[in-house]
Amino acid sequence: MALVPAAGRGLRMGGHIPKQFLTLGGRPILAQSLTVLQASPVIHEIILAVPQSERQYCLDHIVATGDFPKVTKVVPGGEQRQDSVRHALAEVDPETEIVLVHDAVRPFLTDTMIREVVEAAVKHGAAIIALPMRDTVKYVGAGGVIERTVDRRPLWLAQTPQAFRREWLEEGHRKGLLGGVQATDDAHLIEMLGKPVVVVEGSGENIKVTRPEDLVIGEAILRSRTA
Ligand code: C5P
Repeated sequence: MALVPAAGRGLRMGGHIPKQFLTLGGRPILAQSLTVLQASPVIHEIILAVPQSERQYCLDHIVATGDFPKVTKVVPGGEQRQDSVRHALAEVDPETEIVLVHDAVRPFLTDTMIREVVEAAVKHGAAIIALPMRDTVKYVGAGGVIERTVDRRPLWLAQTPQAFRREWLEEGHRKGLLGGVQATDDAHLIEMLGKPVVVVEGSGENIKVTRPEDLVIGEAILRSRTA
């Protein structure tokens, strides 16, 4: 079971088309992400959360193409990403063991990432694709002045896909909502339960298409994959 939050407004991208509907290689970014999930043998069903205003567009241009028969539901997203995931999670069959969450705006996920993160979640309960920090990290204080250099060795950058035992994800979202937490990923909600979340090393190609320059990088990644 995969949940795909695709209900962001993409404000950092400029313009007024939400970034998940912008195209890379002539196809919407959302369609690229769905193609990989659709092809994965470990994913049987996909629930999409989209902006209410784009729901019809999605039904016509994504679902009606027939390319993604695993997409069984398209739910309206919420104000924050966490709300969108919660809306999609509410539609999950209670028999489901593992729920994978993947941001629509990361179209370069791979089948290997999906398999490895699900395997790790089956074993440990919760797992995320992440990248070890490679740059030197500065803690910057008032006036843009560096206060100190942070030890980067234990630092990782969280990506999606992320996979969780369904009950853990439901409990995390329930408590997160009650506690007024606004998490930018689902692992954060599981960490707050005091449960272990393991990292599975991902790839620098698994970029989040957030800024205009990411489209240029994305086109280059696509070209290198099809070369
Ligand atoms: O906002 P951010 O760049 O972290 O978005 C990550 C993912 O969450 C994107 O796929 C975006 O469409 C989705 N999102 C959502 N609902 C929101 C905000 C973001 O589904 N309210």
